[in-house]
Amino acid sequence: METAGIVLAAGAGTRMKSKHPKVLFEILGRPLVMWPVSALKAAGVDDITVVVGPDGDEIANAVDGFASTAVQQEKLGTGDAVKAAIAAPALRGFQGNVVLVYGDCPLLTDATIRRLIDTRIQEDAACVVLTFRLEEPFGYGRIIREDSFDADIPTGDVVAIVEQKDADERQARVRECNSGFYCFDAQALREALAKITNDNAQGEYYITDAVALLRETGRKVVALETEDPEECAGVNSRVQLAEATRALQRRINRAHMEAGVTMLSPDLAWIGPEVALERDVTLLQNVTLMGATSVGEDSIIGPDARLFDTVVGKGCTVDETIAYEARIDDGATTGPRAYLRPGAHLCEGAKAGTHVEIKKSTVGVGSKVPHLSYIGDATIGAGVNIGAGSITCNYDGARKHATHIGDGTFVGSDTMMVAPVNIGEDVVVGAGSVITTDIPDEALVIARARERVIEHWVPEHRK
Ligand code: UD1
Ligand code: CA
Repeated sequence: METAGIVLAAGAGTRMKSKHPKVLFEILGRPLVMWPVSALKAAGVDDITVVVGPDGDEIANAVDGFASTAVQQEKLGTGDAVKAAIAAPALRGFQGNVVLVYGDCPLLTDATIRRLIDTRIQEDAACVVLTFRLEEPFGYGRIIREDSFDADIPTGDVVAIVEQKDADERQARVRECNSGFYCFDAQALREALAKITNDNAQGEYYITDAVALLRETGRKVVALETEDPEECAGVNSRVQLAEATRALQRRINRAHMEAGVTMLSPDLAWIGPEVALERDVTLLQNVTLMGATSVGEDSIIGPDARLFDTVVGKGCTVDETIAYEARIDDGATTGPRAYLRPGAHLCEGAKAGTHVEIKKSTVGVGSKVPHLSYIGDATIGAGVNIGAGSITCNYDGARKHATHIGDGTFVGSDTMMVAPVNIGEDVVVGAGSVITTDIPDEALVIARARERVIEHWVPEHRK
């Protein structure tokens, strides 16, 4: 049976006190709305519609390639938002399961989505709703079962969901809450939507009313209780954003540790959801790994490293390094205090040492840039040593130019390589040189003012 997903994200998010849409706030580098979208994808739900407001272009961009969007013209409530989705071309005439979730719930897992779908099919229910129990349920919609007011732990059929603002005293004492995660039968959902009214405390169309409406027509509604209330936490404020970030950090780090990664201090490791770490990787304190970053076996990252979209091979040492879109091949070492910018590529066994910045350049196999250098737009061959303080002068104020350095070349300290320039193989460059012309293989080049030594100068000048 086919399954479609709906993610509601048209709400105003006023409690964030922000000029930006709530669902675009990021958790571990991923926008809030993309967390439930990714969970749906991981559960095998490919047809996803995200409901946005009329000003939702930014949200549409954020989910582009993962979900389509439907526009809710006015924020008339969650029931009205679902109507906008079900009327969108992607869902018109759709038969099957509809998983409905809210865009501000980043902790929902794909396993729970699968459970909702499987339960709906097994029980042939019109709706399955995920519920959770809280000691302090204030604010959430309450699950009213047939035995809610009699049993200690009610297990009877669900008769209604009552919102906080509409709950009477007895209903408000119910501890079982609505997570906002549902799986509907598409046809039953359409029938219920047609009947939802805004006759309630907030004057809104509530999707939660679908439960009582389906019951009235004799359809089956099943409540599935989760053991893990944390999964249902919504992000309505910045405090909740920080709490959800912590919870996801714990979840992600735990999974990596269980898969064979050592973390000196898991609280000080921030790892994005798409990061891949092989076994026997060690993360020291203060490590941030984001985007499409990956790290190979036996590499040691940190302390104090931030890597974004960077590919690290096996057996590397990445100490106090900041890297964006860089490649660090097997056995290479970086830092402390290295800055690798987009297109920096350290080949096997290469080194970018301390206070070294590398941009859009290849450092060949076993080559070293150990101290105080800037290397930009350069290709450096294998077995090259770049002396301390040497830089490529790649920018003439208007354009960038390339530098090529052949295998086995030794560049003395404090050399300026004024690009465009080619330095051959096995060249020796004297320290302090300014290189402006191409240098042939195996040459010695010294390009600096000749040293003068004037003996006895000092005593004579003191007279
Ligand atoms: C909702 C549920 C409540 C549940 C809680 C779980 C309803 C009526 N109530 O309450 O039972 O316990 O979630 O977190 O569904 N949205 C729209 N368009 C609208 C209104 C809301 O797209 O017109 C979106 C919001 O962006 C948000 C989601 O729907 O992602 C939920 O809306 P919100 O106002 O946060 O509902 P809650 O009061 O949290
Ligand atoms: Ca909410």
